[in-house]
Amino acid sequence: MDYAAVAVIGTQWGDEGKGKIVDYLVEKADVIVRYQGGPNAGHTVVVGEETYKLHHLPCGVISEGKISILGNGMVLDAVTLCSELEAMEEKRSMQEHLFISDRAHLIMPYHKRMDELEEDYRKGAKIGTTMRGVGPAYADKVTRMGLRCGDLLDEDTFKQKLAFILKNKNTILEKIYGVDGFSLEDFEAEFFPFARRIVPFITDTTVMLEEEMEKGSKILFEGAQGAMLDIDHGTYPYVTSSNPITGGICIGAGIAPHKIGQVVGVAKAYSTRVGSGPFPTELLDETGDSIREKGNEYGTTTGRPRRIGWLDGVALRHSCRLNGTTFLAVTLLDVLSGLEKVKIAYAYNVGEEVVNNFPSGLHILEKSIPLYQEFEGWAEDISSARSKTDLPRAAQEYLRGLESITGIKVGMVSVGPRRDQTIMM
Ligand code: IMP
Repeated sequence: MDYAAVAVIGTQWGDEGKGKIVDYLVEKADVIVRYQGGPNAGHTVVVGEETYKLHHLPCGVISEGKISILGNGMVLDAVTLCSELEAMEEKRSMQEHLFISDRAHLIMPYHKRMDELEEDYRKGAKIGTTMRGVGPAYADKVTRMGLRCGDLLDEDTFKQKLAFILKNKNTILEKIYGVDGFSLEDFEAEFFPFARRIVPFITDTTVMLEEEMEKGSKILFEGAQGAMLDIDHGTYPYVTSSNPITGGICIGAGIAPHKIGQVVGVAKAYSTRVGSGPFPTELLDETGDSIREKGNEYGTTTGRPRRIGWLDGVALRHSCRLNGTTFLAVTLLDVLSGLEKVKIAYAYNVGEEVVNNFPSGLHILEKSIPLYQEFEGWAEDISSARSKTDLPRAAQEYLRGLESITGIKVGMVSVGPRRDQTIMM
């Protein structure tokens, strides 16, 4: 695939296997950019015999000689980031290869505390966050109470700002939640040693990105989470606090919309979601359990079992439209082998009405009953398929059905975690 700038975006509720697709496309890229989210993301990439688990760093970081950028739209936890950095630096130096935006916001220890307290407060309506402090850090960004990576470049001023913010945070922690606040000393051991470690990587990444594009470098934007978790377009409030959709790239990496070329929409061959929230095609039966086990559907970040469902064509149409998807990359098709029938929802029944567009209201989603197109299953193990024609007829029919329900071509199919287990359609 030829491109100047390509985006790899999750079209569902995250965990679509974006890491695998990025890893496949990264060979042709020079610069890999993350533009939203933070340590709530968990990418698993298998290269040869090695498995990498990444949270902040883009999957592209694994390939030698590439530049990785953590864009301004991200929220970064210096402690977790340092441990990822150290794991990578056991192999090679990251200096000159990793660049962190001076405008990216920091996740502070009080954000993680607030994440727990806010979840407790929600009681029966928990979002099921990853507890990484992501939501509270984005909230502080928007209320202009945040600390940015660039602030770390002048530690004295940073400490003054922190002291000012702490007064507000401690009032909330102590007076509203009745728990202990933080003192400046708490940060000496738990924050600053890690923060200092990332300082040499901090720069204005928007200027860098522009320069790279001008000299003809190929850019790959790596989305985290998925469109259905988008703060604006997902199943609010059961969403993350950023914009994973393509539009989020312009804001979160600081580039103009026309600079984005192709958009690869990554879709798992079935649906999963972690955390609470509406999930119309959810399978609460043995079929769901068997897909969970076969697909090893447990969270990379939290280890939580993922909820499983049939492929939701209504949600997919919604996210493909929002993302401007050029083509779909279907992952984990091999997991569906052995099922007698496989299904894709093409619309919902809400009362007497047939609904084709993904509803925004939770009260409608709760009443939405999926209308399914049913397909014959296939018994064959397809993990060694390397071309479209290696796939059983029934699997090809399933992909054709997906194309006709979404109106988007399937350009890639993944039939296993390894790089070579990828079919270009
Ligand atoms: P937060 O991003 O930690 O605030 O969590 C908000 C919601 O997004 C929860 O339902 C999480 O389970 C979900 N979420 C966040 N990051 C990911 C991810 O990388 N994959 C799947 N779900 C995620």
